[in-house]
Amino acid sequence: MFSNRLGSIKPFIVMEILEQALAMEEKGIDVIHFEIGEPDFDTPEKIINGCYEDIIAGKTHYTHSLGLLELRNALSKYKERTRGTLFNPKTEIMVTGGTSPAFLNILGTLIDPGDEIIITDPGYPCYANFIQFFGGKPVYLPIYEEDEFNLDINALKHLITKKTKMLILNSPSNPTGQIIPDKTLDGIAKLMLENKFWTISDEIYSELTYDKERAPSLSEKKYSECHDRLIVLDGFSKFWAMTGWRIGYIIAPANLIKAMMPIQQNFSICAPSISQTAAIHALECDVETQKMLDIYRKRRKFIVNRISAIPKISCLVPKGAFYLFCNIKKLEIGSIELSKRLLEKAHIAVTPGVAFGKNGEGFIRISYPTDIDNISEGMDRLKIFINSID
Ligand SMILES: Cc1ncc(COP(=O)(O)O)c(C=O)c1O
Repeated sequence: MFSNRLGSIKPFIVMEILEQALAMEEKGIDVIHFEIGEPDFDTPEKIINGCYEDIIAGKTHYTHSLGLLELRNALSKYKERTRGTLFNPKTEIMVTGGTSPAFLNILGTLIDPGDEIIITDPGYPCYANFIQFFGGKPVYLPIYEEDEFNLDINALKHLITKKTKMLILNSPSNPTGQIIPDKTLDGIAKLMLENKFWTISDEIYSELTYDKERAPSLSEKKYSECHDRLIVLDGFSKFWAMTGWRIGYIIAPANLIKAMMPIQQNFSICAPSISQTAAIHALECDVETQKMLDIYRKRRKFIVNRISAIPKISCLVPKGAFYLFCNIKKLEIGSIELSKRLLEKAHIAVTPGVAFGKNGEGFIRISYPTDIDNISEGMDRLKIFINSID
């Protein structure tokens, strides 16, 4: 009855855990949520008020399929300021309803059945689903905690074949919280030039960094030689606390943006107009976003200290995003089983590492955009639970 294509999309495990946790809450059980990858902050008032005025002024119509030119101009200026590269707002930027649907445009335009796309393992689980939906083949590049979950250029080189169409990067990473350093980007840029594959750089967490102003990116001017094969994906969900507004954008060479327009026009028409105006206000919210970032930074320090004090588990200090990939190997319990027990017995919802790839086994992802009191209670429960395992 349903299409064969549907078989290539696996359920999103995070949502399944969330649904189980919500069912427990309905029965009156108090669950600490460390599974959801979403800011606990509401969207800054300045964005809401600005958008409200725009709605009243009637900015509720379809826009150009590439998005409001005012927003594309603002995005171009923002990238010029932060990356030193001038992307043409008229031809090189497409505004979308979040970064997730942007994959529909990009992969639908570029991928043919049998094309190989390299992704890291562990990595963001939707990538493999997106690729398989279009008949592509995900090729997994294992990354390891010993290397701070950085990808190894030699290992990447060995995975490249004649069928390699694309590489997908995500820095800071969901689930590891680690950042791809400049030196690795240098190696990737060289491989892109030699082998002529596309790279999608998913930069949804690029400003959510704790020790550097932002994560290094192939969109910087020094990598301009490979910009004819670079696709930057970015959006307002995380750093601006705007998950529900569904607003993101693609920066890509003009010929690709033009080729993606039919999919955009047919499937979306345009991104939601009211979210586009909200995004224009968001780009003027440096003070508000820095306040949220300072709070995430305090939470990161607190949770890393608490994890370090629990025997048999450990973690690297995350450099960005709001995830901590916690090593549970010494417990000798699979990550799915541990997550199940943590939810049922300790009432803490986490995501099993294996949900992010085979190589994520032996880890759980703890998402910490929640207030310090909750983190503290969750860590108390985690400690008691782990001490109770013999
Ligand atoms: C790495 C990564 N990319 C993309 C997304 C989706 O973002 P959006 O809300 O823009 O669709 C997420 C959400 O968790 C993510 O972690």
